[in-house]
Amino acid sequence: MYDQELTTTAKAMVAEGKGILAADESYGTANKRFQKLGIPTTEEMRRAYREMLFTTPGIGEFFSGVILFDETIRQATQDGKPFTKVLMEAGVIPGIKLDAGAKPLAKSPNEVVTEGLDGLRDRIAEYYRMGARFAKWRAVITIGDGIPSRRCIETNAHALARYAALCQDGGLVPIVEPEVLMDGDHTLERCFEVTEEVQHAVFEQLYRQGVEFHQMVLKPSMVTGGENASTQAGIEEVANATVQCLLRTTPAAVPGIAFLSGGQSDELATAHLNAMNAMYKGKLPWALTFSYGRALQQAAMSTWMGQDANVPAAQKELYKRAKNNSAAALGQYSPAMEKVAA
Ligand code: 13P
Repeated sequence: MYDQELTTTAKAMVAEGKGILAADESYGTANKRFQKLGIPTTEEMRRAYREMLFTTPGIGEFFSGVILFDETIRQATQDGKPFTKVLMEAGVIPGIKLDAGAKPLAKSPNEVVTEGLDGLRDRIAEYYRMGARFAKWRAVITIGDGIPSRRCIETNAHALARYAALCQDGGLVPIVEPEVLMDGDHTLERCFEVTEEVQHAVFEQLYRQGVEFHQMVLKPSMVTGGENASTQAGIEEVANATVQCLLRTTPAAVPGIAFLSGGQSDELATAHLNAMNAMYKGKLPWALTFSYGRALQQAAMSTWMGQDANVPAAQKELYKRAKNNSAAALGQYSPAMEKVAA
C-alpha cells in the first residue's frame, strides 16, 4: 500500500549531502544531559530545547529528517505550531523513536534486549497520522568478557526485524540500529568481529521477516575499538575497518547507511565520516551519512543552557555541526572548517 512512498522516503533520508538529526532522547536520557549542565529537567524545558533545535534557520539544507520522541512529536512551538509542521515546512521529514528502550536480557546478567513490540502496529498507525514517515529502533550490544552471547545477538536481531517489517506495513521507513557500544578496552579487531557478526544476524532476520532492503536505512556504530583501549585507532583505520565490515554484511539494495556517533567527540565523528566518503567515493553501493545525537547537539545544548537569550548562539552551533557533517557526507570536510566561528 505504501510501496512508492517508502521507496521515495528512504531515498530522501539519505539524499546527497544530507543526514538525520537524532533528537529522540527519552525522558531519562534528556534529563540526564540537562542535569549535567544544571538545566531544569521539566517538560517545558525539554520543549523549549527542541523548539530551539527545530527552528534553527536553514537546517533543511543539511538535515533530511529529525527523529522525535513520543513526548516531542506531540509538542509545539511557544506560539502553537506543531513541531511536525515546523519540520515539514523546513523540508525536513519527521521520524519517531519506536523502541521502548533496552531492558535486562533473561539469563544474561550483563546484556540487554530492546523492548517495544507489543501494540506496535497501532502505535505506527497513530504516528503515521501525526506526520511521521520514518522510525527508529536501537538494539544495544555490549563487548566484554564472554559477551556478546549468541542469544543476545539473535534476540535483538529478531526484534529489530519484526519492528522493521511492521514499519513497512504501516508506511514508515525503518531505521535499523544495531549499536555495538564503544564501552570497554577491546581492540579494533574485536570490534570488527562482533560488528560483523551482529550485522550479518540482523540482515538474515530482516530477510526472514520479509523486510524490503530498498525501503530501510541502516544505522550502525563505527568500528572504532573500545574507548578505553590502550591504543586508539587512527581516523583512516576506523574509516577503513567500518567500510570493510559493511561491505561484507550490507546488501547493495539498502539505499543508505546513517551512522550513530556513540560517544565520539563531535569533531572525530565528523572526521571519521569524511574519511569514509573521501576514501571510497564512487565505489560503494550505498550513501554513507550521519544520524548523530550527541555529536550534533552537544555544542548547541551547552551554549543554550536553558536561557532564551542564548537561542541564536545555540542555533549557530547546531548549524555549524550540521554543515560540517554535510560536508563530511560528501567527503569534502576539512578540520579547518572547525576554526570558522559558528
Ligand atoms: P548518538 O549519536 O549520541 O550515539 O545517538 C544516536 C542515536 O540515535 C542513538 O540511538
